[in-house]
Amino acid sequence: MARKTTRDIQKIYASGRAISMVTCYDFTFARLVEMAEIDTILIGDSLGNVIQGHDTTLPVEVDDIIYHTRAVARGNSSALIIADMPFMSYQASDEVGLMNAGRLMKEGGAQAVKVEGGERVAPMVKRMVDAGIPVVGHLGLTPQSVHAFGGFHVQAREEDAAEQLLQDALALQAAGAFMVVLEMVPADLAQRVTESLSIPTIGIGAGAKTSGQVLVIYDLLGLNTSFKPRFLKHFAELESVCVNALKAYKDEVEANSYPADEHSF
Ligand code: KIV
Ligand code: NA
Repeated sequence: MARKTTRDIQKIYASGRAISMVTCYDFTFARLVEMAEIDTILIGDSLGNVIQGHDTTLPVEVDDIIYHTRAVARGNSSALIIADMPFMSYQASDEVGLMNAGRLMKEGGAQAVKVEGGERVAPMVKRMVDAGIPVVGHLGLTPQSVHAFGGFHVQAREEDAAEQLLQDALALQAAGAFMVVLEMVPADLAQRVTESLSIPTIGIGAGAKTSGQVLVIYDLLGLNTSFKPRFLKHFAELESVCVNALKAYKDEVEANSYPADEHSF
């Protein structure tokens, strides 16, 4: 299957079918994502949490995203590949942002980048788009601002904040963004934004009326059952599957029953 492009994503959106997105960070899972025919992969800075074990996404470096994007691209030849711009890779100046977006594409092999923020980043988004870099926006709970928010809470519950979020989404669209992620916002606001835009919205904790959905791959697979925010559904319970397999291995090693003759040379 040929790799999906931003045009293919536009066509799916125009057809009315919801767009599927998962995060992914390595070759092995990227292969599974291809077998599942998921439309698009985000190499999220959530790797700071689920790969590196940090409490926030703030420590993630551009080089980390490049490393994981390359691994994902080798394991999946069908999904549109979007690389996240990590904290402080675009906040200090538009030039720095442009150069780092270029690195994610040149060195990582990404087809698009994602940035957090609305009106504030719109001029930079326009410069990226002008340079041939497709951009995904990200509004609502933008985890790079966790310390400004004072935690991970639903955003834009009040009407003035909701109005600002809508203005942010429109600014991203006007700047040329081809898609916008809406994270942890009320479902009716996500619907209002989705209906106000002519580019697709991708929701996470944003209800069912967005143009598509995204989840962190390990979360949806149930690899860490201690993490269960309200918006998350475990589509499998792989934590117990993996632990049971590891225990069975350990038991057989200790019992000298693995490897058996059939595993030996
Ligand atoms: O980093 C990430 O995984 C994300 C998605 C949850 C949208 O930004
Ligand atoms: Na992210």
